[in-house]
Amino acid sequence: MPKVAPSILSADFTRLGEVLREVEKAGIDTLHLDVMDGHFVPNISFGALIVDAVRRCVPGMELNTHLMIKEPLRYAEQFTKAGASRLVVHREITDDPARLCSEVKAISGKVGLSYNPETPIDGFEELEGIADMILIMSVHPGFGGQKFIQEVLTKVKKIVKFNQSAREKFTISIDGGINPETAPLAIEAGVDNLVAGNAFFKNKGEYRTSGFEQVISSLLGK
Ligand code: DX5
Ligand code: ZN
Repeated sequence: MPKVAPSILSADFTRLGEVLREVEKAGIDTLHLDVMDGHFVPNISFGALIVDAVRRCVPGMELNTHLMIKEPLRYAEQFTKAGASRLVVHREITDDPARLCSEVKAISGKVGLSYNPETPIDGFEELEGIADMILIMSVHPGFGGQKFIQEVLTKVKKIVKFNQSAREKFTISIDGGINPETAPLAIEAGVDNLVAGNAFFKNKGEYRTSGFEQVISSLLGK
């Protein structure tokens, strides 16, 4: 059964601690933290200070920290010390993804690689044993609440196929535009993690602060 990994980008930051404890009570054990630097993407979100605050709110949760930033190596130690469980870096910022992932992993312990919608995943196989997660972007990174790009599911299916005979499988995450209508498509393609921001934390544009069990069921089609 796939997991839902809520992206806190769409949460109510005025009551973040309270909300995250509700999310944990609803059975979520993995969060997605979107870090944006205003260079790699045309938006700025938050940095290690918030990762540290989230870590202290929910000490037991897995915190996948999605670094939409140009220089992840420069900040890898800071995010790791703040409590990130895994750093997810972008394929587009390097010519040598295996090397970048190894270098980040040496600092963070766990690393994932993310691909923008238009970036091919050619050569992802060489990351086996280095990166343990591949994150497929299903929107152009930078903002929550965008429309799901269904074409990226061909990449998901390729990784699923590779996983069938791999020694060390990749956890496949999909990120962007996931809602009760699009989630079944991603699940059918074989994803392990559904990242959801708007669909998870908002209801008709208003912040949701409870009722997360129902949201999880609606995303998982239960
Ligand atoms: C987009 C981020 C996503 C985003 C998902 O740049 O990487 O994680 O927060 O938000 P929704 O689910 O609203 O598309
Ligand atoms: Zn993300």
